[in-house]
Amino acid sequence: MERTLLIIKPDAVRDRHIGDILKIVIDAGFDIKALRMTRLTLDQAARFYAVHEGKSFYASLQTYMTSGKIVPVALERDNAVAKLREILGATDPSKAAPGTIRRLYGSSIESNASHGSDSVENGRLETAFFFPELDF
Ligand code: CMP
Repeated sequence: MERTLLIIKPDAVRDRHIGDILKIVIDAGFDIKALRMTRLTLDQAARFYAVHEGKSFYASLQTYMTSGKIVPVALERDNAVAKLREILGATDPSKAAPGTIRRLYGSSIESNASHGSDSVENGRLETAFFFPELDF
């Protein structure tokens, strides 16, 4: 079974969409392996998004991701990484397909409601970032 990480981001938590997003994910056949609510420190946000270091949006992304509580969720199903990215939709909510999580709940390319791992390897690494106690 493949594992991936969903993060319900500060804008979606603030807008009370935790339940709406989890329902879409569960209806898509994912099993929730672990879930918690937390608030990232600047250092944690910098480490989680280190791959984007040097990009124009890196500093702003850290400010946004530390602006409120987030809900990281470890998910499992077959083809989990690709399937989660499909139901999230494009990074930019205005370009995301109708019915996708970002189209429904995101408001800009930065405040896009949710994150999903972009590869099987990152699915494992990102899940372990938030849930190191999970058995891999
Ligand atoms: P996410 O899938 O979590 O990956 C990186 C995040 O950076 C992205 O969602 C957005 O929240 C944010 N971001 C802000 N500007 C951009 C941009 N121009 N391209 C990609 N991601 C961006």
